[in-house]
Amino acid sequence: MITTTGLTKIYGADGSRGREITALDGVDLHVREGEVYGVIGQSGAGKSSLIRCINLLERPTAGTVSVAGQDLTALAGRGPRAGKELRQARSRIGMVFQHFNLLSSRTVQDNVELPLEILGRSGKERSRKALELLDLVGLADRAGAYPAQLSGGQKQRVGIARALAADPKVLLSDEATSALDPETTRSILQLLRDLNRQLGLTVLLITHEMDVVKSICDSAALMEKGRIVESGTVSELLATPGSELAAALFPVGGEAAGPDRTVVDVTFQGEAATQPVISQLSRTYNIDISILGAAIDTVGGLQVGRMRIELPGRYEDNVVPIGFLREQGLQIDVVGASDAKTALAKEAVK
Ligand SMILES: Nc1ncnc2c1ncn2[C@@H]1O[C@H](COP(=O)(O)OP(=O)(O)OP(=O)(O)O)[C@@H](O)[C@H]1O
Ligand SMILES: [Mg+2]
Repeated sequence: MITTTGLTKIYGADGSRGREITALDGVDLHVREGEVYGVIGQSGAGKSSLIRCINLLERPTAGTVSVAGQDLTALAGRGPRAGKELRQARSRIGMVFQHFNLLSSRTVQDNVELPLEILGRSGKERSRKALELLDLVGLADRAGAYPAQLSGGQKQRVGIARALAADPKVLLSDEATSALDPETTRSILQLLRDLNRQLGLTVLLITHEMDVVKSICDSAALMEKGRIVESGTVSELLATPGSELAAALFPVGGEAAGPDRTVVDVTFQGEAATQPVISQLSRTYNIDISILGAAIDTVGGLQVGRMRIELPGRYEDNVVPIGFLREQGLQIDVVGASDAKTALAKEAVK
């Protein structure tokens, strides 16, 4: 639904002023139809630049963007004659902002009607659509209010209704919940999830909060310094040894008791259970296993369990028991020892 290839944005590349800043450095992103896709990264990683290049608010320096099968970068490159086509293509992309960007002099309803005015729709059609959308976001009774009379969460609901006015296939959200308190954040995320399901809307959201990804995303990518360093469905990420995103989505604590110990994270999804496996392991290899931490949680709608266990001896001494765990279909991740991880990754490739 959204594909970028080699997307690059260098600010100041026109040589007009100051030094060049590479905000996007060859980003390949693929968002499937109907999914909620989260991009997470620290401040300055290039998240906003990515979203602004996807809807061509910002002209990419290189690379392509296609949305719903249409190559937007090619349209933009064709100059003013393609302007109308580009405007239409962009109207199929809804955009939600951190600070709502509502017009304070207009009522809630008039704010929602704005994109339809720009598209030249009739007054009757605009008003019907706006009221329908306000109902959808739970604000049917506030159509005549002004933005200043609304709470932050209500303002964002108006922002979402406005973004949906032209029946977009795709909704882009740049930190839509960053200015909201935790409870309001939850209700806005739930609204985005509901819209995703009810309307089949594809949602690409940018955030620096792992909780946002955890609560509603089907897939996620981690951005660092203008690049995507990890990406996949939540389920794939959780099954990837050494995945930073997986560790952040589902942290489990616990430190090794001493140097001659191997600490292993055992992750399972769905129905699998670790407990019988752990006691079997202990009996089969006659080793004492300590459980350092354990948790069960719902990540991206999946039930996931993780247990951190400690085996006596170093990694080399535990290759066989670790192999046993993996044979049981459990996701195994050796913690801390980077040499051990590399060895394990090599073994996994075999
Ligand atoms: N209009 C601009 N002109 C010049 N440099 C810019 C511009 N916009 C962003 N940058 C720079 O590009 C880099 C990426 O910025 P961007 O806003 O995309 O990051 P971000 O991941 O959205 O950060 P945050 O989480 O703080 O919003 C930063 O170094 C930033 O200073
Ligand atoms: Mg930003």
